[in-house]
Amino acid sequence: MPHSVRAVIARAKGEPVSIETIEIPDPGPGEVLVGIQACGVCHTDLHYREGAINDEFPFLLGHEAAGIVEEVGEGVANVAPGDFVILNWRAVCGQCRSCQRGRPWNCFETHNATQKMTLDGQPLSPALGIGAFAEKTLVAAGQATKVNPAARPEAAGLIGCGVMAGLGAAMNTGEVGRGDSVAVFGCGGVGNAAIEGSRLAGAHTIIAVDIDPRKLELAREFGATHTVDSSKEDPIEAIRAMTGGNGVDVAIEAIGLPSTYEQAFYSRDLAGTVVLVGVPNPEAKVELPMIEVFGRGGTLKSSWYGDCLPSRDFPMLIDLYLQGRLDLDRFVSETIDLDQVEEAFEKMERGEVLRSVVVL
Ligand SMILES: NC(=O)c1ccc[n+]([C@@H]2O[C@H](COP(=O)([O-])OP(=O)(O)OC[C@H]3O[C@@H](n4cnc5c(N)ncnc54)[C@H](O)[C@@H]3O)[C@@H](O)[C@H]2O)c1
Ligand SMILES: [Zn+2]
Ligand SMILES: [Zn+2]
Repeated sequence: MPHSVRAVIARAKGEPVSIETIEIPDPGPGEVLVGIQACGVCHTDLHYREGAINDEFPFLLGHEAAGIVEEVGEGVANVAPGDFVILNWRAVCGQCRSCQRGRPWNCFETHNATQKMTLDGQPLSPALGIGAFAEKTLVAAGQATKVNPAARPEAAGLIGCGVMAGLGAAMNTGEVGRGDSVAVFGCGGVGNAAIEGSRLAGAHTIIAVDIDPRKLELAREFGATHTVDSSKEDPIEAIRAMTGGNGVDVAIEAIGLPSTYEQAFYSRDLAGTVVLVGVPNPEAKVELPMIEVFGRGGTLKSSWYGDCLPSRDFPMLIDLYLQGRLDLDRFVSETIDLDQVEEAFEKMERGEVLRSVVVL
């Protein structure tokens, strides 16, 4: 029997989201129906609503979620009804050219549910193939990762996107190691997770850069050793001064703006690494003198989902959380109802929250 559930829908570019009743089919082969317990509001949801990702409206928003498996379709072996799971947007295929090269974290053919969820008969586009601002959602089995149910759903769900993206940008993509110096541009949920990841990886100097003093204060709590308010001082000069005149080993951009990407580029030490984890607007362009690209050497990388492998990383990170070594609770600024997502976008834009988390 199909399921009718309440969900947050973005119907048209730039318009406020609304709560609608959507239809979800029973899980087919390889699919899983998950009862959502908590789902964080990520900046990427707002990018969808603004039409900055693509034009495939209507979107079913929400993708940073944890919940309980309710039903599984034929052939599902990794999870069973009753399991506590975190949803992910990287259910690797094992077959594409990247998986075949032994790089499943770059998988080019990730799995989503085959059947569509619908609104008045119209197929919905679930954000990042998940769509979890809803009482239930339908995903591919590989999109559900079983973790220790002792974790609070509102904290655990954050591993499903922003926190994983930030932790992984530092630990996986940036390969931050013991004694390294790191600068993180943008200290929202993603940037602060990059700060926490750098601390976990053993970085010696962690410089937080933001234009909002509230975010810089949070960054200190997550492990930043220095902060730079880039609305008041030139971050490139400040970072150089904080690193003996050299610049950082790894510069992580967690905003998605050309100006801050350039700041990251020039804040690096020779042969350092720049990691872009912020998602740029499709029209954004960067212009760099080619001699600087050559002369500074090193590596310019992008981080898709923190180069994570959910089946490997999520249970491990939840264990670190339960041991008190990874602070996920600090990311949860507030818990809200399903009908407060639009307000949460406004709070995010005003810089008042790291994460508003919808609790169902
Ligand atoms: N690559 C991935 O896999 C991935 C995953 C999740 C999110 N993201 C992206 O990461 C970015 C950050 O997401 P978030 O949820 O942390 O967003 P957020 O809005 O919570 O945080 C952005 C931060 O940047 C700061 N900021 C804005 N303009 C700035 C400027 N000019 N200089 C310095 N700081 C500035 C803001 O004050 C804020 O603290 C978004 O673009 C999001 O889409 C990427
Ligand atoms: Zn693949
Ligand atoms: Zn996200």
